[in-house]
Amino acid sequence: MSDPEPSWPLWVDLPLRRTHADGRPRTPPRGRQILMVFGPPGSGKGSHCPRVGELLGVPHLSTGDMLRAAVAAGTETGLRAKDAMQAGALVTDDLVVAVVVDRLAEPDCENGCVLDGFPRTEAQAVALDDALAKRGNQKVTKVIALDVPDRALTARVCGRWVHEKSGRSYHVDFAKPASLAALPAGAAPTPDTMRDDATGEPLARRADDTEEALATRLQAYHAQSAPVLAHYDNAGCVARVDGDRPPEQVWAAIEDVLAA
Ligand code: AP5
Repeated sequence: MSDPEPSWPLWVDLPLRRTHADGRPRTPPRGRQILMVFGPPGSGKGSHCPRVGELLGVPHLSTGDMLRAAVAAGTETGLRAKDAMQAGALVTDDLVVAVVVDRLAEPDCENGCVLDGFPRTEAQAVALDDALAKRGNQKVTKVIALDVPDRALTARVCGRWVHEKSGRSYHVDFAKPASLAALPAGAAPTPDTMRDDATGEPLARRADDTEEALATRLQAYHAQSAPVLAHYDNAGCVARVDGDRPPEQVWAAIEDVLAA
């Protein structure tokens, strides 16, 4: 018996809409784009950012992915970040700012980037603004803020599985990999039954995707990260998107913001 639930691997299934509802062509924004996708843990940043990057033709920079890679590689940055990340706390501003500023200097960021998970404190926002200003008076062009209430986030985070190499994220109920959809309904998710659609490699759980760590992450989000939105609100570049609805509807709203 096949599983009747839909599966939404966002980076594969959702088509880019090339026209507005009235038939006018949608044109991605021109020029250098420093776009930020902002939201609490589990709000959908990692699900949607790769497609935003694809649409704009710029790299997706996830500080969470960069820090996890550093932890996995055992670099000095990784060693300094590991304990805070596992507990769900923010890593220090100096560490994460250095990682991002180095990455922004790489040639593939020449035309911009999509920032995912950065900045998360006022100090990081100020450091980013300074770094961009020094690079020929650049600034953040748009912030897409995903609005999702806390009550919806536990199920998302605690059911997430990730492909560690690519950062692609799946969910046991909301974004099933093809490998799970092919099994009988109710089959227990394991690294053997949860496999990446693109490579077939086993998926994994994140060390901080526990209810306990999520509580700490949400606390950090509300106390330290949410105020960052006011910083960009003052610059008039924030677009709020209701992220508490099915992924394809969230993606359509993001596309609308990008094409506005
Ligand atoms: P990071 O990796 O950035 O984690 P996060 O911000 O907590 O965000 P998540 O990755 O948990 O969620 P997401 O919004 O990407 O959701 P996703 O799309 O995967 O950071 C991890 C840690 O690194 C931090 O806690 C901190 O320690 C450190 N760190 C990183 N940046 C830092 C910084 N700047 N400063 C200091 N420390 C930093 O979706 C979640 C699940 O929900 C998935 O399974 C997905 O399939 C599903 N889903 C997505 N959309 C929907 C939908 N619309 N409906 C139903 N399910 C959905």
